[in-house]
Amino acid sequence: MTQDEMKRAVAQAAIEYVPSGTIVGVGTGSTANYFIDELAKIKGKIDGTVASSIASAERLKGHGIEVMELNTAGRLSVYVDGADESTRHLHLIKGGGGALTREKIVAAASDKFVCIADESKLVDRLGKFPLPVEVIPMARSLVARAIVKLGGEPVLREGFTTDNGNIILDIHNMDIIDPVDLEAKLNDIAGVVTNGLFARRPADVLLLGTPNGVNVLE
Ligand code: 5RP
Repeated sequence: MTQDEMKRAVAQAAIEYVPSGTIVGVGTGSTANYFIDELAKIKGKIDGTVASSIASAERLKGHGIEVMELNTAGRLSVYVDGADESTRHLHLIKGGGGALTREKIVAAASDKFVCIADESKLVDRLGKFPLPVEVIPMARSLVARAIVKLGGEPVLREGFTTDNGNIILDIHNMDIIDPVDLEAKLNDIAGVVTNGLFARRPADVLLLGTPNGVNVLE
């Protein structure tokens, strides 16, 4: 089974977690795109969606799926999204696509967070994938210096602006021993909008694509 086939398999499995007659939170990235394509097949059963990025909103609309503002939608039944890394505790690194802030907001607004990923994303310890941090542009140097003090190597994501008009610093070479603590410490730096650690609010379920089928971790 190829990586894309594993992504499609977990996207199909995630449909089982979508309750009828509810509003669904939808993530961003190639795995989330497979989920959007599966959601299109059952679009008559849901009341609408809230997207975590402009790109996902466009794909949803392209399928004729209603996209709502979170402020009008209120509470969401489930949030389905991919990840860049996940531990067996379902602590995640997200934001490879730069949508981390809206992803964290939509996850926080959802009763259940179902993470979908192929097996390459499962790690023993987070941090091999550079940890994205969304930063207000005027605070770039201030935040970068604070990240160095925490032991990381911040690298500006060149030529990239988030959907919120901000920049991304990717933290390289950070061995993340305590993701809950680091998530809070990074968010405490003035100028940080949020960071890509999803540890204080981890996923509730991880659907992991393997060559032998979909494994469910919870
Ligand atoms: C985007 C994300 C994605 O969920 C993450 O980058 C995984 O993407 P893919 O499914 O393409 O591997 O956090 O900001």
